[in-house]
Amino acid sequence: MTAPATEPAAPAAHPLIEADDIKVHFPIKRGIVLDRTVGHVYAVDGVDLVVNRGETYGLVGESGCGKSTLGRAMLKLTEPTSGRVLFDGVDLSAMKGEKLRTMRRRMQMVFQDPMSSLDPRQSVESLLVEGMRAHNLDKGKESTGKRLRELLSAVGLPSTALRKYPHEFSGGQRQRIGIARALTVEPDLIVADEPVSALDVSVQAQVINLLEDLQDEFGLTYLVIAHDLAVVRHISDRVGVMYLGGLVEEATSDDLYAEPLHPYTRALLSAVPVPDPVVEDRRERILLAGDLPSPARPPTGCRFHTRCPWKQAEKCDTERPALREITPGHRVACHWAEDIRDGKIRAHEVKPELVEMEWDAPDDASLAGPASVTETLGP
Ligand SMILES: Nc1ncnc2c1ncn2[C@@H]1O[C@H](COP(=O)(O)OP(=O)(O)OP(=O)(O)O)[C@@H](O)[C@H]1O
Ligand code: SF4
Ligand SMILES: [Mg+2]
Repeated sequence: MTAPATEPAAPAAHPLIEADDIKVHFPIKRGIVLDRTVGHVYAVDGVDLVVNRGETYGLVGESGCGKSTLGRAMLKLTEPTSGRVLFDGVDLSAMKGEKLRTMRRRMQMVFQDPMSSLDPRQSVESLLVEGMRAHNLDKGKESTGKRLRELLSAVGLPSTALRKYPHEFSGGQRQRIGIARALTVEPDLIVADEPVSALDVSVQAQVINLLEDLQDEFGLTYLVIAHDLAVVRHISDRVGVMYLGGLVEEATSDDLYAEPLHPYTRALLSAVPVPDPVVEDRRERILLAGDLPSPARPPTGCRFHTRCPWKQAEKCDTERPALREITPGHRVACHWAEDIRDGKIRAHEVKPELVEMEWDAPDDASLAGPASVTETLGP
């Protein structure tokens, strides 16, 4: 048999949602009476990100790096400080009121902890019907009842679940209800923020598989946020890695895991054990020195320079690297990515730097948000 002369062309990518230089800066307030702004938390600081129709984009990074804030800003649940979001080609920035509400039906969010996102006093039926009513999709008892039973079956729950309350279910089942609730309004995009991190490991795979099945059945597009690289790898077509409010690397899932090019991604991946004992013995392990700096006082230049084992005397602490395409579809925000990849620059030891507090808080400081900054920056 003769081989075809040319490879079949990959289907063209159609952006469903596009973030264009999105920034979300939360003000740090001080003083009970005057309520002065004394600084900002740079939670998201200039992110360009496109999720194509029908794909799953995984967003990973340490706690506090801005993943949830970016997800919320893309759905306009948090107002961006600057930048644009286009949904299906329409600019959401200037959209308000009824128009925005109608558009929102097409973008839904699934949260980490279904218990806190499901009202414990509402039955499953009432939780599911709520969104349908808000968007005029409740077409009478019979057709709505049929639709709810179909949705429950799609997420693997019996129709008897309709009469029960959230506390009567296990964590995994509650997450299934959360997913069914998002589906009631027939969305195009689902932003799933840590959808399985509150679940037992044995249940995590089931929920991930369910998300994949539903994607095929309902033609969904996903933005999946997780701190666990293993979760994102399994489900994502493309992966973006965030560090301190910025995207530092983006590639197809296969490329990113086969050849991570940003020092931060290399460090993250080096912490993930490999099942093959021979590979496990030989694999590179990069221990990051120091703590994650405060997003209220991000380092100058490359934000990773205080912890980077490849940091150079030139550029690293003075110029913020742009996200550049190094190979087709593989973007990296590092001045020295090619030299590091080619082994021309080698890793060196990093002395931990003291991470400063973001400001000298006086006794009367009333903190809007950043009070939790240091608390949320866990390992
Ligand atoms: N409403 C807010 N007001 C002030 N600061 C906020 C607010 N929401 C988030 N932040 C801060 O912005 C930064 C980014 O938070 P975000 O929740 O987006 O991080 P994350 O990557 O989702 O973390 P995690 O993995 O812990 O969920 C953190 O320092 C957080 O404390
Ligand atoms: S720009 Fe410099 S500090 Fe930043 S990741 Fe690259 S080598 Fe490290
Ligand atoms: Mg989060």
